[in-house]
Amino acid sequence: MSSVDDIGYGRQFGDFYDRIFPSGAYTEPTVRKLASLHPSPGERALELGVGTGRVAIPLAQRAFPVTGVDSSPEMLQQLTAKAKDADADVEAVHGDIRKYTDDNKYKLVYCVCATLSMVLEADDQQAVMQHAADRLAPGGVLVVETSNPGGLRALHEGQQRTSYFIPYPEPNTGLLTYSTVFEDRSLWHASHIWFEDGKSSVGSELARLTTPEEVDEYAAAAGLKPVDRWADWEETPYAEDSPMFVSTYTTR
Ligand SMILES: C[S@@+](CC[C@H](N)C(=O)[O-])C[C@H]1O[C@@H](n2cnc3c(N)ncnc32)[C@H](O)[C@@H]1O
Repeated sequence: MSSVDDIGYGRQFGDFYDRIFPSGAYTEPTVRKLASLHPSPGERALELGVGTGRVAIPLAQRAFPVTGVDSSPEMLQQLTAKAKDADADVEAVHGDIRKYTDDNKYKLVYCVCATLSMVLEADDQQAVMQHAADRLAPGGVLVVETSNPGGLRALHEGQQRTSYFIPYPEPNTGLLTYSTVFEDRSLWHASHIWFEDGKSSVGSELARLTTPEEVDEYAAAAGLKPVDRWADWEETPYAEDSPMFVSTYTTR
């Protein structure tokens, strides 16, 4: 497993990822929308950066099997155990989404939860989109969800650094984030502290500030045409200061 270039996300976040981003009600809008976007329900889909299977497992239980690629052995280990427990058809593949290829064509390929922004160079993001486009069957749909730099700027209110706390419904539980934006390098650094029941865990991540227009350009260069862009999975209209964006593309 060691030949895949991995940023170490799973080593930092693996132990508490599913607490920050739970399956169930939090993930339900994503699962519902992705299921509805699949032009051929029942056929296998491809997830780029599948993580612990937060989205892939409920999709496989409900709508269609999923092949999920991730560079993190730790995240994939959890995915495999959870998929087995859930009797969900999710194939875990250890790989790098900047290079991923296989022998299949998919009617749905998706890359969500800001995974594309974790790829820090524009050329590499272009490569992710090209490899995704190469796996799409004619008439297939590519879905990208990632952080919106305009939303981050609104949150920062003109400051380079800010911090914010999100309380979770369970007692004594929440996420504290220290956020720094490096506009000159198009980068965002976030250190998260997860508090639960008197214990804390820390994880840091670096992301590329990636605009919806850039993702559109990557898609166009990969031979895809844009279909929709929303602020979220409920199809809230996109605005400059939306925290996230969801863009969909199809083959020309
Ligand atoms: C924020 S998690 C999202 C996981 C899942 N898509 C979800 O929605 O819960 C991002 C995942 O992308 C993976 N990742 C980041 N860069 C990658 C790369 N170049 N190739 C493969 N996986 C990558 C990380 O290991 C991590 O599991």
